[in-house]
Amino acid sequence: MSAPILTVSHLSASIAGQQVVEDVSLSVAPTGITAVLGRNGVGKTSTLRGILGLIHRQGEVTLAGERIDTLPTHRIVQRGVGYVPEDREVFAGLTVAENLALAERDRSPRREFVAELFPDLVARRGQLAGTLSGGQQQMVSVARALLNENRILLVDEPTKGLAPKIVSQVADALAEAAKVVPILLVEQNLEVVRRLADDAVVIAGGRVVHTGSAREILDDEALTTRLLGVSAETHPGASHPGKAQSERSASA
Ligand SMILES: Nc1ncnc2c1ncn2[C@@H]1O[C@H](COP(=O)(O)OP(=O)(O)OP(=O)(O)O)[C@@H](O)[C@H]1O
Ligand SMILES: [Mg+2]
Repeated sequence: MSAPILTVSHLSASIAGQQVVEDVSLSVAPTGITAVLGRNGVGKTSTLRGILGLIHRQGEVTLAGERIDTLPTHRIVQRGVGYVPEDREVFAGLTVAENLALAERDRSPRREFVAELFPDLVARRGQLAGTLSGGQQQMVSVARALLNENRILLVDEPTKGLAPKIVSQVADALAEAAKVVPILLVEQNLEVVRRLADDAVVIAGGRVVHTGSAREILDDEALTTRLLGVSAETHPGASHPGKAQSERSASA
């Protein structure tokens, strides 16, 4: 097996004095998608924010074998760690084109690649991002991270709150993105995980409680019921643990 692009060893992190990541160790393969699974509030987002140094953390993080946990966030980003945050965080009052232009960091941003991947965004260049649908805003958020030649993307719940048809479009985009950059993907839609992820780690109570092949984890009904609070059987409604379907599709 080739060396992981990212390793996290004994990461702990706290917010306002409260420990939200206890002891997370994981590694991300240099290709494809590694999923982070877990119920609501177990520390998935905090793990990503800890990797980026956005919250106070301890432990070791390496990118392509080099320590990055000693660096401030802006240096970690410069090393090639792209972030697609939960709830997208587009600039609502700026156009699609302006949102994308602000994300360009490299000397030769991959504008053509992004335009090919998201033709809808090209058509909507002049539209204010705040007036886009949830799915379109997610495309903007992923597009921003893809403009630069990152070594890894940290993507947090990209399908949250989206209608099923839009969920599959976002999954399509991530599948294409994963051909050029490895992704650490927090995702609660287990259909999406089944389709996209090679490996998976399951977090509970701020700790990694299971690591393995995504398919094996999803096929283990006892494990998914116990750790994710849901059966991963492929039937509608089984894919969004912890949150009501109505809430999740509200902004689609
Ligand atoms: N800004 C904050 N202030 C205080 N506590 C917080 C803050 N952000 C998160 N927490 C707490 O930290 C814990 C982990 O939260 P985190 O957002 O990392 O979980 P998560 O697994 O991403 O949850 P979700 O599935 O809802 O996105 C939770 O108990 C949460 O209440
Ligand atoms: Mg979260």
